[in-house]
Amino acid sequence: MSAQGMAPSVPSSEPATFSGVAIDGNNNEVKERHIQLVKKRGNVKALDEELYKQDSMDLKVEFETHFGIAHTRWATHGVPNAVNSHPQRSDKGNEFVVIHNGIITNYKDLRKFLESKGYEFESETDTETIAKLIKYVFDNRETEDITFSTLVERVIQQLEGAFALVFKSIHYPGEAVATRRGSPLLIGVRSKYKLSTEQIPILYRTRNFENVKKICKTRMKRLDSSTCLHAVGDKAVEFFFASDASAIIEHTNRVIFLEDDDIAAVADGKLSIHRVKRSASDDPSRAIQTLQMELQQIMKGNFSAFMQKEIFEQPESVFNTMRGRVNFETNTVLLGGLKDHLKEIRRCRRLIVIGCGTSYHAAVATRQVLEELTELPVMVELASDFLDRNTPVFRDDVCFFISQSGETADTLLALRYCKDRGALTVGVTNTVGSSISRETDCGVHINAGPEIGVASTKAYTSQFISLVMFGLMMSEDRISLQNRRREIIHGLQSLPGLIKEVLSLDEKIHDLALELYTQRSLLVMGRGYNYATCLEGALKIKEITYMHSEGILAGELKHGPLALIDKQMPVIMVIMKDPCFAKCQNALQQVTARQGRPIILCSRDDTESSKFAYKTIELPHTVDCLQGILSVIPLQLLSFHLAVLRGYDVDFPRNLAKSVTVE
Ligand code: G6P
Repeated sequence: MSAQGMAPSVPSSEPATFSGVAIDGNNNEVKERHIQLVKKRGNVKALDEELYKQDSMDLKVEFETHFGIAHTRWATHGVPNAVNSHPQRSDKGNEFVVIHNGIITNYKDLRKFLESKGYEFESETDTETIAKLIKYVFDNRETEDITFSTLVERVIQQLEGAFALVFKSIHYPGEAVATRRGSPLLIGVRSKYKLSTEQIPILYRTRNFENVKKICKTRMKRLDSSTCLHAVGDKAVEFFFASDASAIIEHTNRVIFLEDDDIAAVADGKLSIHRVKRSASDDPSRAIQTLQMELQQIMKGNFSAFMQKEIFEQPESVFNTMRGRVNFETNTVLLGGLKDHLKEIRRCRRLIVIGCGTSYHAAVATRQVLEELTELPVMVELASDFLDRNTPVFRDDVCFFISQSGETADTLLALRYCKDRGALTVGVTNTVGSSISRETDCGVHINAGPEIGVASTKAYTSQFISLVMFGLMMSEDRISLQNRRREIIHGLQSLPGLIKEVLSLDEKIHDLALELYTQRSLLVMGRGYNYATCLEGALKIKEITYMHSEGILAGELKHGPLALIDKQMPVIMVIMKDPCFAKCQNALQQVTARQGRPIILCSRDDTESSKFAYKTIELPHTVDCLQGILSVIPLQLLSFHLAVLRGYDVDFPRNLAKSVTVE
């Protein structure tokens, strides 16, 4: 039955996100110091509206300071609600408040300890433990003049897991302290005036200490103008703590990336960074870097969602990935970030390509062409599973880490695992300065531009191309592969134009979405070069439409999925003119024999498949190993339209985060 005009029988789309902010609230009316906490269901915009709705606030605060910490929550512990959202507080008086990205793995032990000391917990979060712990450390301090950053230093010594934290306290008005371990954290710096320095020297404690009691007695090197960042002549300078550069790019493109265990403190408008002790490999300063990201790159423009904008950007983003790297005249490819390691890579025993979600699918999509061009065995691995299996890794392996954000915890842990075993590590990321790009030996920046929509689209096609370019670079000297290389390079050149042609099918795909949007399930089936297309298409559908969707390898159809096929079950089949074409025809016969009504993504000149199709989406043809770049786009568009029709927030799907910095 056609669903057109019917109300979809889908669950309510009430946002499960919570946002919260804590601001210094010492004003003229209320003499004593306090911190104002405001929390609101929904995104930052909802919080912003709430904040300026003066009537809704407990105290009518004229903000004298513009100093606050804020957070939107992706729950790791406890259901998303106001109590569990951040900032979390030490007590009802908000003496200490904290925001946290990450996960504290020993929080149960800490909570037990704090409860035994009489602390009462109000939330189910791991983060509340941190807020209570800092109060405990403060209440048990040995000296009155303990600094805020010393407290934080003592707190993080007790924490296990991953965290980026920012603290505020009524005991240190106008100050904030931030720190990280395993989760990303950067500081944006904005000033109209010249800055006192472009390199902030790290402050180390003057002597080491072992036990907590001694901590308060050790002294930091004296804080003076040479150890802080400020604007020259004490003119205003603003600092922004954020876990992602896109959050602050509208204010500044100058940033400092913090390293694990750095403690950054802002007091009296000055920023200082310290660490407990110095190891031989430590860089003794942190540089202010200038990001190339432009504000307009992260604006929606005329599109209704970032995801839609990012889908439509693909003709340019794939071009940017290749720009300056592929020479279409000489048929050569040069990836600057890999060239010094090429000899070593060519000598390796195998390639292991590791990622999560969409980034993993980019590895699946290019495995065959990498095997063909590098003539090496290629393993593709989901980072979490790779770690679970304690996979053997050797010194002569080369391990690739694919990650849009460069911060995904599972991928980062897999990277450290491979590094520890002596393998050469290569990052393929979209984020300059990210943990993965910093910790790998070498890498490729995919240059897709900032991706804001949680469901990854343009990063996938750019990762795909980056891996193909790597294969091409590796095969430059292989005489037997020259024709194939020429064919692929020629295919790369025509991709931007072909992507535009695929995008022009948008209206047709919207019509298809109108037919499908009330369905509960959607199967996506294919094989060979397009198996990854099916996995990725199904992931897009799951992520943003909340429909059940499965990417099925057509070769496995007979081994189970065929049982799902009937008149009702919508099935999308990806059938391209490639070496698997005949086998895909078999699968098509099996589907139609069970009265299935396949929607077929096929080549324009494919008269054979269309005979059996309930509907077809006809795509331009390209080289077999690049076809997946074109065939995934209709599925990106379909998932977008389905989600809109079902009334969901396309860019911020429930329960998901853009960058998953917890294991
Ligand atoms: C999250 C996102 C996915 C993404 C995956 C890997 O789960 O919701 O869209 O594919 O992380 O992210 P990465 O940044 O490592 O590519």
